Amino acid sequence: MLQGKKILLGITGSIAAYKTATLVRLLVKAGAEVRVVMTRAAGEFITPLTLGTLSKGPVLTDLATADTWANHVMLGRWADVMVVAPLSCNTLAKMASGQCDNLLLAVYLSATCPVVLAPAMDEDMWHHPATRQNLAKVISYGNRVIPVVRGELASGLVGDGRMAEPEAILAWLETFFHAGQALQGKRVLVTGGPTHEPIDPVRFIGNHSSGKMGIALAMALADKGALVTLVLGPVTQRPSLPGLEVIDVLTASEMYDACVTRWPAMDIGVMAAAVADYTPVTVAEEKIKKQPGTWALELTKTKDILQALGAAKHGDQLLVGFALETRDEKSYALGKLEAKNADLIVLNSLRDAGAGFGYDTNKITIFDRQGTEHSFGLKSKDAVARDIADVIVHTLESRKTVLR
Ligand code: CTP
Repeated sequence: MLQGKKILLGITGSIAAYKTATLVRLLVKAGAEVRVVMTRAAGEFITPLTLGTLSKGPVLTDLATADTWANHVMLGRWADVMVVAPLSCNTLAKMASGQCDNLLLAVYLSATCPVVLAPAMDEDMWHHPATRQNLAKVISYGNRVIPVVRGELASGLVGDGRMAEPEAILAWLETFFHAGQALQGKRVLVTGGPTHEPIDPVRFIGNHSSGKMGIALAMALADKGALVTLVLGPVTQRPSLPGLEVIDVLTASEMYDACVTRWPAMDIGVMAAAVADYTPVTVAEEKIKKQPGTWALELTKTKDILQALGAAKHGDQLLVGFALETRDEKSYALGKLEAKNADLIVLNSLRDAGAGFGYDTNKITIFDRQGTEHSFGLKSKDAVARDIADVIVHTLESRKTVLR
């Protein structure tokens, strides 16, 4: 699977760096061409001589030596993928803020290929809010993350923070390159985030959607080769990735227009946005001053985007909706599948711990029109997005089988 793939391995300062000898050996054995860039700190844990011997090429550490300049731009263009393993807490923070004080960071900042990160750090560092924030930032830049695993750490403690094993990194890359084909060339429309319905110049009606699910979905679908248009409500993180176009919108009406005009040219639609169901009838031009007594705001229904796309669906278009429920989950989800003419409906129940708005995790069940129910356990939103993308691929493939 990795035959002929060009893999640029970035190694940073962490005890897990010693495992990169195995990783390089596995990659070379799988037929990949490997080039290694490492930080000075990584050199404390593994020697360039070991890595140079295994990768059959020079190992680069510095932007410039006495008479040569390492061409960081061409390295990032040469690679099919850049893998940073292990990714230390320090390099993660530098990547999140765009710092460039060594060759590895210069290559990372100029890389045009997909970048995948395999962090390694102690459990308390891994769970620190700064690390969480830095990780969310680099994911929003379009980087993929191979999650840390739980186990014995360099500190002697047992917990989250171990770098994924070299075999797991190899398997991840094999899936990544294979997955690239499943939705090759398919045009996918994804909605994500909340909408803001203005009341006056300073107030709006909104909701707690972070946009994480829609962003993760857009990235999982792009990873499978799809050309994704993400219509994104107001959120703080904004993804960027080759094959991904982001259209920023604010209101339900803007999101509706952006989707309805693009839908005829799409193959797949995935409506993950938490669209406001109601919007103020009028928007005051001036800030509304407070008055004695109560204030009644007149609201009108917004247009249902999923329903509109379902009604306009043509040919082989596949439409996926979401249902967020607090009771009678299955019957409401199936009701929405039918009423909105979707092909798949993804159910989140707010009764499940760790699922829904504001969490990094989610727990879903997907229903299709043939009555199949795909249930999944509590997972990170990235893993949930990959599951949804897999069910989409499976549904498209089973359509082909039926037609044969
Ligand atoms: N949706 C949409 N446009 C809207 C409202 C909802 O596209 N104006 C989509 C959501 O993105 C989601 C699905 O419809 O895919 C279900 O949304 P939800 O709000 O749960 O369902 P509603 O039909 O609004 O029903 P209710 O609020 O009664 O649960």
